[in-house]
Parts: sequence; C-alpha cells; structure tokens
Amino acid sequence: MRASDLERVKLPPETLPETLSHLTHRTFSSGSSVPVVVYGQSLEMAERACIDRYLTSLPLTVDVLDIAAAEGSFSNALFESRQFEGFTATWVDRNSSAMDAGTKVVPFGSRVKRVPADLEDVRWARMIRDAAFDCTLIGALHHHVASPKYSQIIDIVIQRKLRPKGRLVAVELGGGLYEKDPLQRVVEAVWESIPQSATIQAACIFDTEISVPLLRRVFNIHYVSFAIDATCDAV
Ligand SMILES: C[S@@+](CC[C@H](N)C(=O)[O-])C[C@H]1O[C@@H](n2cnc3c(N)ncnc32)[C@H](O)[C@@H]1O
Repeated sequence: MRASDLERVKLPPETLPETLSHLTHRTFSSGSSVPVVVYGQSLEMAERACIDRYLTSLPLTVDVLDIAAAEGSFSNALFESRQFEGFTATWVDRNSSAMDAGTKVVPFGSRVKRVPADLEDVRWARMIRDAAFDCTLIGALHHHVASPKYSQIIDIVIQRKLRPKGRLVAVELGGGLYEKDPLQRVVEAVWESIPQSATIQAACIFDTEISVPLLRRVFNIHYVSFAIDATCDAV
C-alpha cells in the first residue's frame, strides 16, 4: 500500500489550550521535538475522527476492548461520542499504573476491567473472554511491538474476541513525531503487519494540525487508520 493511494482526511486544526502551555517543555526522550501534550492532543483528535468514521452503527449497549489502553483515552472518546445505555470496557496494557490512573478519571471507571499483560505474549488472550466485545480499539500501538506480534494481536481479536458483528478499529502513528520516519515507510510497515486474511475497511490517513502560540509553532502529525470486521461466527 502506498501512502499516496490512501484517502487523506484533514481534521479541523486545533490550538493547544493555554492551560497546558506550561507542559510544552516536556518532549520525548527518543528525540522528537514534539511536546508530549501536543502528541496526546493530536492522538485524541485522530481517535475521535476514527470513531466518527468507523463506529457509527454500534449498539446502544456496548462492551469495548481497548488494546494498549494506557489511561483509556480512546475508550473515553468513544464514551463521550454519544449517549450509550450501557458501556463496559476491558483495558489491556502492560502499564498497570496508567490503567489505574485512568479508571480514576474516566466517568465509566467502575465499569472498566483492567488486564495488566504483555501483548507480545499470547497468554494475554486467555485473560479475557471470547466473543464478548462489540468493538476493539487500538490506539498508537504499532510502533511499540514487533510486526508479527501486531499481526497476531489483530488475528486474535477478529477471530476470537469480537462478537460476530463486531469491529476492530485502529489509529496508528504515521508521521510527524520523528523526522526520520517518512509516512510511506510507516504505512508499508503497518500494512505488512495486518494479517492477510483480514479485509481492511476504508483505510485513510488523518492529518492533524495543532498550533502552540507560546512556542509560535504549528505541529502536523499524521495517523494511519483502518477498520476490520469480525471473522468469527461463534456466538
Ligand atoms: C502511545 S500509548 C497508547 C495509549 C492509548 N492507546 C491512547 O490512545 O491514548 C502506547 C501504550 O502501549 C502500551 N504497550 C506497548 N507495548 C506493549 C506490550 N508489549 N504489551 C502491553 N502494552 C504495551 C504502553 O504501555 C502504552 O500504554
């Protein structure tokens, strides 16, 4: 897949709230000049856009599986997207303190099951029920795990964890955080990590733009996004 073949969706530009300006000195130790708060805001923008694009026909009562959930921002964006009658979430992440912190903040915290696990170790799949989720959210995991492991995670979700009409959606970092990773290379790497058996729905690139008046800078960060429907028939 070439990046130029993917639909480009430019999201409405945002400004970093002034209340967060004092945090802009914090950048990633791995060498990006993008402040962590700016990255966080841009990821949330892309996650909201992903929900609007792929998850319009969810039931009113949903069970959500959030893979690499951290503080649960992706689940929270889904929760805030409409009025659900029922909402439970299962969060899987190796960082249990992030999940603990997140459950204290999100309004549905008492309905979150936390699963501290290494997603590169297939045993995580035994810790949660099969055919139990209406949707699975994956936000910015790809660059943290080896490609075959990412592929295995998607396989497990679409074949075993989703309900028959369930859907997996993913937003992966595409470019703009690190100069050295051109979008094309990242798109290819993400594509190579999607199992061949999976049918990718409506993939696109979300372009985000955030201005930071204090720094007199504008940051453009890009995300690759796609959906895959359940392939499991089990009820
Ligand atoms: C960039 S954060 C994504 C946070 C979240 N999905 C969001 O949308 O805000 C990446 C998360 O992946 C988790 N992670 C990375 N590698 C992992 C692994 N092998 N097993 C479990 N979690 C992992 C990290 O702990 C971190 O919380």
